[in-house]
Amino acid sequence: MSPEFVYRSRPETPNDRQRVREVTIAAFGRSGEADLVDALRHDPAWIDGLSLVATTGDDTVVAHALLTRCHIDAVEALCLAPCSVLPDYQRTGAGTAAISAALAAAADADESFVVVLGHPRYYPRFGFHRAADHGIHLGIDVPPEALMVRSLRPGALPPAGLVRYAAPFGI
Ligand SMILES: CC(C)(COP(=O)(O)OP(=O)(O)OC[C@H]1O[C@@H](n2cnc3c(N)ncnc32)[C@H](O)[C@@H]1OP(=O)(O)O)[C@@H](O)C(=O)NCCC(=O)NCCS
Repeated sequence: MSPEFVYRSRPETPNDRQRVREVTIAAFGRSGEADLVDALRHDPAWIDGLSLVATTGDDTVVAHALLTRCHIDAVEALCLAPCSVLPDYQRTGAGTAAISAALAAAADADESFVVVLGHPRYYPRFGFHRAADHGIHLGIDVPPEALMVRSLRPGALPPAGLVRYAAPFGI
């Protein structure tokens, strides 16, 4: 791996907010996900310390991963979304750095479960597996393999139930 592809991770600071917005817009090629992040900042689902960035050696933010509060029925969980990497840095480990840091921060915060709606070929590398296998489902129609869950505690089985996202997700 070349030196420019070694990333550091850290929680975002207030100074990163605009840059996170720019990274998110660039990653998705539209502003919807960046607007979602900004709406979540003002929502009770926001948890300080669970918005993580990956940076290059000069502390330039190139990736972002966000965990916010959701519920599986009445059980508190976290939702991993969105995950964004600047196009020029995609597939170089930046997303992995931000997501791994977010999951580690959540474990440190004594959180138990994380759900993600995303690419079924990408998230299993972080320990996610099919939520449907645990009786976890969504109120909208998605391919069953796209909804995934992982436990942050050894031996803790995710509860069955309906995933209830924070209001800004509109799900
Ligand atoms: C999806 C995303 C977060 C992944 O981050 P990344 O830094 O590009 O990926 P990493 O370098 O950490 O990991 C690379 C691996 O992920 C795989 N990968 C990357 N994007 C993928 C995708 N969209 N679908 C499936 N696999 C993907 C690569 O094939 C590679 O696999 P390998 O290790 O087996 O070769 C990033 O590409 C991105 O921002 N994409 C646009 C926005 C988006 O779709 N976000 C996710 C939905 S919330």
